Parts: sequence; C-alpha cells; structure tokens
Amino acid sequence: MAACKTSKQTPQIKKGDGLFQLFVEDENQDAFVSDKAGVFNEHGMVASAHEEASKVGVEILKKGGNAADASVATFFALAVVHPFAGNLGGGGFAVIRDADGTPSSLDFREKAPLKAHRDMYLDENGDVIKGLSTRGHLASGVPGAVDGMVQLHQEKGTMSWKSLLQPAIDLAEKGVVLTEGQARGMNRYRDTFREINGEDTPYYVKADGSDFETGEVFIQKDLAESLKRIQKEGADGFYKGKTADLLVKEMESGGGIISHEDLEKYDAVWREPIVKDYKNYNIISMPPPSSGGVALLQLMKLTEPYPIDEWGFNSGKTAQVMIEAERRVYADRSKWLGDADFVKVPVKELMSQPYLQERWASFDPSKASLSSEIDGGDVPYYESDQTTHFSVVDKNKMAVSITTTLNGAFGSKVVVDGGGFFMNNEMDDFSVKPGVPNMFGLIGNKANEIQPGKRMLSSMTPTIVEKDGELFVVAGTPGGSTIITSVYQTLLNVLEHGMSMQQAVNARKFHHQWLPDKTYTEESTFDTEALQYLLSAGYEIEIGRRLGRMDCIMVHPNGTLEGASDPRGENTSVGY
Ligand code: DON
Repeated sequence: MAACKTSKQTPQIKKGDGLFQLFVEDENQDAFVSDKAGVFNEHGMVASAHEEASKVGVEILKKGGNAADASVATFFALAVVHPFAGNLGGGGFAVIRDADGTPSSLDFREKAPLKAHRDMYLDENGDVIKGLSTRGHLASGVPGAVDGMVQLHQEKGTMSWKSLLQPAIDLAEKGVVLTEGQARGMNRYRDTFREINGEDTPYYVKADGSDFETGEVFIQKDLAESLKRIQKEGADGFYKGKTADLLVKEMESGGGIISHEDLEKYDAVWREPIVKDYKNYNIISMPPPSSGGVALLQLMKLTEPYPIDEWGFNSGKTAQVMIEAERRVYADRSKWLGDADFVKVPVKELMSQPYLQERWASFDPSKASLSSEIDGGDVPYYESDQTTHFSVVDKNKMAVSITTTLNGAFGSKVVVDGGGFFMNNEMDDFSVKPGVPNMFGLIGNKANEIQPGKRMLSSMTPTIVEKDGELFVVAGTPGGSTIITSVYQTLLNVLEHGMSMQQAVNARKFHHQWLPDKTYTEESTFDTEALQYLLSAGYEIEIGRRLGRMDCIMVHPNGTLEGASDPRGENTSVGY
C-alpha cells in the first residue's frame, strides 16, 4: 500500500471553549480502526451485518444457487436476525452484475402513502412538528422490501422461492442466539418501544421488562407466520390478505395513513443503473430515487484529475480535495436530487465533465471554501423545481450489492401487532420543509418534497466496480448521509491507495456534507501534518464519529474472493 502513514504521536482535535484545539495524544495508532483480516475463499462470498445471515446466503450458494438466490435468502434472514435494520417493513436498492457482465438495478424504495401531502409534518404556523416524521405510525412509507425480493427472484433467481424463505422461517421459529450488539440494541430502545407500542410490546420487550442477554435464544413466532405467508403467496402474502390486514389495522390504531390501496399499488421498479468510467475502472451504482450513484460518480470524477495516490492516504492535500468535492456534491444533492418519476433530475448533466470542471472554479487550495458561498450548480435547461448493506458474489462471478433500511434504528419503532415486524420511518428522508435538516442533517428542497406515491430521496449507494471489464469490487454501507462518502473513500482506498479490501474498510474515514460546514472524522484520521494543513486552511474539524459499517467483496487477480466486513460492527463475511 502506498503512502499509508503510521504515527505513534496521534494528533487529536478536541472541542475547547468554542475553539478547536490541536494537541497530540501519545497513543500507538495507525491508519486503520482495527487490524481485522479479510476472509478469503474461492467459490462464493456473502458479507453482511450478521454472521447467521451470511451463513444462510453461503448455504444457498453451496446448493448451487446464484448471487440473486443467496441475496433473497440473506435478505429475509437479516429481517429475522438483525431487526435493527433488516426488514419486511422497509425498502432498499439492489445493484446487480450478471455473470456475463450485464448491469442492472432494482428500486424497492418505500413510497409516500396516497394520503400523504407536502405539509403533513408541519403545524398551523408552518413549523416542523418534532418527531412526527421519525417516530410512530405517521413516519412510515409504503414498504417495498417484499416486492423487491419477489422481483429479484423472478428476474434473476434460479432456486425455488420456497427454499429461499425457509432458512429465515427456521431462524424465526427456532430462535436466533442474540449477539452482544443485538441484545444491547433492543435494551436501549425498550422505553421507546413501550411508549409507541404499549407496555406489552411483543417480542422486542420482555414481559417482565428485564434485559435481553447476550447468548439468549430469541424466538419470533408472528414474524415466522408472516414469512410463511410470503413463502406461500409471494408478494400477495404481504401486500394482500392477513399481513396487509394486520399492517393496515396497526396503522389505523396509531394515526398512520398506509391503506390497503397503498399496499396493493406498490411496485418495485427495475431502473437503468448509473454506469460511468473512472480511469480503467467502471463504476455501477444506484440511480434516483437514491442520490448515491450520482453523488458517488460526481465525487469520483471530481477527484480523478488530482494525483491523490502521490499525495497519500488522508494527507492534508488529499483530504482537502475530497472535502471540497463533498461540499459541492452535497449542495447539488440538496438542489437537484429527488424521485425522477416525479421531478426532472439532470443525472447526465450533473456527472458531465464540463459541469464538474465548472464546479471546481471556486476552489482555492490556500483556504477552505465556505458552504455559505457554495450552492447547487446551474444546469442548463433545467429549472429548480437504520440501514444495512450486504454484498454477494457467486462462483460465476455474478454479484449483488444490496442496501436496505428502516431508516432509523428499528425504523418508526412501530411493531405491526400480530405481524411481528417493524415499520420504517422513511418519510423523514423527504424534505419535510425546505431548508429544515432531516435526522441526518440533510437539507432538501422542492425536488424532494412530499407528494402522494413519490419515493423519498436516499443516500444509499450499493455499488459494483469493474476493472478492465471484469468484476472487481462489490461495496456498500449503512450510515445515512455518510453512506456516499464512506463508499467514496473505500473505493479510493483500493483504486488509488492500493489497499486490500479489508484495509480499505478498516481505514479511518471522514465526512463533509456541505451543511453543516464541518468535517467529521473518526479518531486519529489525520496525522499532525495533515491536521495542521487543514486547520491552517480554515477547515473546522470535529472528531468522534464512527463512519460506515461496510460489507464489501473484492475479486483478486487469481480469482480469489476477499470478504471484508466492517470491524466497527458485528459484520461478518462467510465464504466457501
Ligand atoms: O435512504 C437513506 O439514505 C437513509 N434512510 C439511510 C438510513 C441509514 O443509513 C441509517 N443507518 N445508519
């Protein structure tokens, strides 16, 4: 790996009395958050947030299923073992590369219910009612997950639907052994679950109110029944019949607006993926209603002219170019990005060379640009009008990259009574009021205002990279607004800094999203020299966030697969 700095004297920035102070901590730190090693196998690999889910996927691969089959099985397993983000009541995106190299993408993002309207989260004075778009029944969009999996299976799968659902049913019925993270997560939200679902919240709060313990067996009978209906009837097992009745009843009991009509009308959509070159690589990613693909490609193309491999990983100059690219791209996201079925999104223009060159015109390397002076760019002929990722590669090098979410941890916290699953709080990803930040601090405008049946803008960035025409990297992560920048850095770590897949995941990360005008970093991301460079140029730096929980796979030149799951979580790669 080129120019990856190791420093025993780790500089830190701590927030003093309104001032950022630089001092040096004497700790043995290096460029990585951990020295976790990658998982190497020849035939197939699943990298996901939970070991059980990865194992389910690999078993399907071993039985001769392809990457789509394994993805469907892993998806439903995650809904059982990782209720924090895995889901039936959420949505997501899949980016796929067939064994013959054909790229495609599937949009199973939630939609605004038909009864939704632009100002539904505002009071009579036009102010945002705190918490209404993030917690409880009104926060949910119409779930897309189940139709997404049905369509992925119909279009790309080879094994029987029944066999792909069975492992998840078994996990729900026989129980899953709670990891430390799962137990902690459910305990942390106990009071909120009760507040929203009542004292007798099923499954996720124990009847006697005590803590879940690591190692305890966790059984979810209602969820098993919901999964069986989906196993038997496909999409109708969720969008019609008993599950739909339970979901609508739950909504009605808590002032939610999702109706039978919403469920019946829901359709996942195959979309033209974003495909663009970067040097001798080709990047395939998600188009609107995710901003992920457009933003990632804008970032990559803005970075391409600079010799960041020579400047080094997380050096002052490298970081500056990346931060300034991020500032401009997130300003564009705020102005231009939304559901392209409802608003015109200038996808090609935003990624075009002349446009991106123009975006750099305001860059002065001697000082930090100010977000207050940067806006979304002008595109000719246009008027401004808790997530989890997994990656799968099979023996024929078919690849699937899926990011799926309930939005916040356990979504809206609403459990569908009798259905045994959480509903999303994805409505908060809309711009509920122009200029007012959402839970990720993201600001939106007209392009992302609420309209009935419209999909809320996302940052999810499931991505596949080809090198010299062959499958090279499958990548993605949760993290709200930081998803795009985590994928961007992870790709540059491989493409420019020569890191292995696991090193790229382990590497310390930073993030800028235009507003607030700050660079967020993990601890010890920059060495003294880089910090001094950035501080003297006027960058405000805030340390302490953990960035990304990546699940990635790399194909090495000899065909070996490297599964790289993030040491920041319980993420685990399993191969065979
Ligand atoms: O679609 C989005 O961009 C968000 N709903 C993703 C949320 C997320 O990543 C939460 N996980 N940490």
